[in-house]
Amino acid sequence: MNDAVRELYSENRYPDLSHPVTDISRLWVSARAGGLERLPEPAACRVLELGCAGGQNLLPLAARYPKSEFTGLDYSDTAIRKARQASYEAGLHNIRFEAADLEHWRPSHPCDFLIAHGVFSWVPDEVKTRVLDLCGQVLSDNGVACISYNTLPGWSLRSGLVPLVKALANNPAAAGLGDSVESVAASLADMAGGGTAHAANVQAICRDMVKKGPTVLPFDDFAPVCDAVYFAQFASWAGERGLRYLGEARLQDNLPDGISPHAFDRLAPLATDPILLQQTLDLLSGRTHRNSLFCRVDAMLEDGMTTGVVMNFAAGRGLVELPPVESRVVGLFRQLLEEIAPSCLAMQELVERTADRLGAGWEPSRHGRELTGWIYQAARLGGIELRSEPLEIRSHSMAAPRLSALNLHFAAAGRPVVDARHFPCRFPDGHERLLAAMNGSRAADELAEHARAEFPELDFHRWLAHLAERGIVE
Ligand SMILES: C[S@@+](CC[C@H](N)C(=O)[O-])C[C@H]1O[C@@H](n2cnc3c(N)ncnc32)[C@H](O)[C@@H]1O
Repeated sequence: MNDAVRELYSENRYPDLSHPVTDISRLWVSARAGGLERLPEPAACRVLELGCAGGQNLLPLAARYPKSEFTGLDYSDTAIRKARQASYEAGLHNIRFEAADLEHWRPSHPCDFLIAHGVFSWVPDEVKTRVLDLCGQVLSDNGVACISYNTLPGWSLRSGLVPLVKALANNPAAAGLGDSVESVAASLADMAGGGTAHAANVQAICRDMVKKGPTVLPFDDFAPVCDAVYFAQFASWAGERGLRYLGEARLQDNLPDGISPHAFDRLAPLATDPILLQQTLDLLSGRTHRNSLFCRVDAMLEDGMTTGVVMNFAAGRGLVELPPVESRVVGLFRQLLEEIAPSCLAMQELVERTADRLGAGWEPSRHGRELTGWIYQAARLGGIELRSEPLEIRSHSMAAPRLSALNLHFAAAGRPVVDARHFPCRFPDGHERLLAAMNGSRAADELAEHARAEFPELDFHRWLAHLAERGIVE
């Protein structure tokens, strides 16, 4: 085991992060879109997270799905103690945390969802091998693994920049550029100018380093191990463990940004060789990172996004603005999504309501096909959100706002609260004290009074409305 990696995590300075990309509600959709027909639903499944740190990612999922079983594994005792404390404070009985080195850990039961986020590229080779071996051993017959890793050739410029930024930060002759890696990165971004494609790339990488900042960089770009791999190589290693590539965890990541729209048409025949297709997309897009889904090679697969499959999902408005459409039926459906935002409703109900609005002109099979075709394309562009189940958000603030038991604990412990869509929420220092006071026993006006005294600049009621929109207060 690489001592530098162990030392880094034993101090447990790793930031508390939840990762929306690993939300099992959306993983379920993406795996079904990849054809994994019999993947158990999030509401009744077993989930394993490798390298779970302090549980910030797994705990909110366990709170959301009380009938499912969650296991988190990490070799940092401090992180595991912190995770256990949170599950105890939140009264969660469906989650357990194990402090163990995954190199020697033996699973006791199969899992339907395996999450390994932020692990593979940041551990020594023997642990990488073990991560993949575990996926091959522990996935249930119809389970899915979501593994994140850095990819080549996109990552190569970044890995070339890292030693240079470090050398400049440590060289007195370069003192004018700054004395930390972040300040050197900021100077390089400034000097790169962006006049050529290369300079623009250097600038973007350096700006991204500045954005990650000193809390994340030591665990990411500047970690003792930070490797990248070609997708085709990764898929081949997975294949050696009896795993098959299904697609990316976020539907929209199957079509990386920045590629000419014609490229997808021209590459369409390559659908028969999905690995080469994906590797070509990485080459064209310069993608640096993936969150890939794998299932067992012998898992039951069907034809992805058929109308029948889409009808199993729930939908809501996505984050990306979509272009206007001609179709009346699609227009009515979109209008409905706007009206229910930020909630998501079951597809069946959305389709029935659309049919009601269209009236006598509704032709179930023609319009059903038209809608589901559009829904799939819109979801791949990020314009609509697909989930395994509806999400009800009452977006007006409550008289006596209340956070979930888990978010109350997170706020009291100074950890970020996590919203209904699994996004971590960061607010200015001290605001967590206000959140920790939202336990349903104080009226909104009383809290506003308190906020006025402590944070005069805060528009409390507006903030409360924002928290309600994100499904943080009930
Ligand atoms: C970069 S952090 C990622 C944490 C979290 N999954 C995330 O993405 O935010 C890597 C985590 O893997 C854990 N880890 C690294 N090597 C490990 C090993 N051999 N066995 C168990 N955990 C390990 C570390 O303790 C750390 O919590």
